[in-house]
Amino acid sequence: MNDIWSENVQGVMTLYLSRKLRFDDVFFEQYKRAFDIDENADMKILEIGCGPGALAGSLHRWYPRAQITAIDRDSNFISFAKENIPGIDFMEGDATDLPFGDRSFDVTISNTVQEHIEPTAFWGEQRRVLKPGGVCLCLSARKGLQCTAPCLETTVAEKEFWESIPQSEDERERYGVCRYPMSEAELPASMEQNGFSDVTTGYAIIDLTPDASKYPAQMARAMIEAMRQGALEAIKSVHSDCAEKAVSAVNAKYDERLRLYREGVKQWDTSVSVTMILRGVKR
Ligand SMILES: C[S@@+](CC[C@H](N)C(=O)[O-])C[C@H]1O[C@@H](n2cnc3c(N)ncnc32)[C@H](O)[C@@H]1O
Repeated sequence: MNDIWSENVQGVMTLYLSRKLRFDDVFFEQYKRAFDIDENADMKILEIGCGPGALAGSLHRWYPRAQITAIDRDSNFISFAKENIPGIDFMEGDATDLPFGDRSFDVTISNTVQEHIEPTAFWGEQRRVLKPGGVCLCLSARKGLQCTAPCLETTVAEKEFWESIPQSEDERERYGVCRYPMSEAELPASMEQNGFSDVTTGYAIIDLTPDASKYPAQMARAMIEAMRQGALEAIKSVHSDCAEKAVSAVNAKYDERLRLYREGVKQWDTSVSVTMILRGVKR
């Protein structure tokens, strides 16, 4: 049982809710262009480091004839995905030692995983399990932009809570988070150096603005709830006895944000994420 990531870095619901939005069908056209794979092919896709499975769930809708396998080291993510996302073969396993034979897949894909895994193993294992002519897709988060609604500014209770937490060593470093960061130029070069050819880069711009009229109410509410979940998880992950006041303050401000949305009082808060999409071919 490995629960290192879900217990210490990002929890199941925080990852699932944010990725469910990021891979919503309204953004498919952007991904489709960069993926450049046949929507109607009988192909075998492997997702590496799938977390709680939101991307795999979207791939299942977008590429209905594909047979999808998704793997992650973290047991909590895999049990959540197995229970909640039908049609995919989820399994626990290590991206640096994939439990599949050589030349088993037509496509490998990962989202925000490369920066956590030693590059030779990350690319090498995908290259090994891909068939000749197979496509490797690597999605990587880049700097986006955020604008917070006035009602969501940090409250006094949250400030007091964070000031009461003793400074500790960087937890994320301890768990190997982002040990291998690469710039927009280094990433495609690394892919080429590790044996992929015809490398191309593309970008998906995911604009999450609850007040934008292009988004239905259900999606706008999901954006607000995903932010609430992230804020609550950050507080709860600290394991402090004085979290209660901060949790109530967070709940109160997100309830207020939902009320304003319901009543049509626009805030125009926004979160725009930029995902770099690399595509390379195994020759
Ligand atoms: C930032 S999360 C992204 C999860 C998922 N791709 C998503 O976008 O929701 C990174 C994921 O990589 C997984 N991971 C890290 N190192 C791994 C390894 N060596 N083998 C398999 N999974 C790994 C973690 O467990 C975590 O689920």
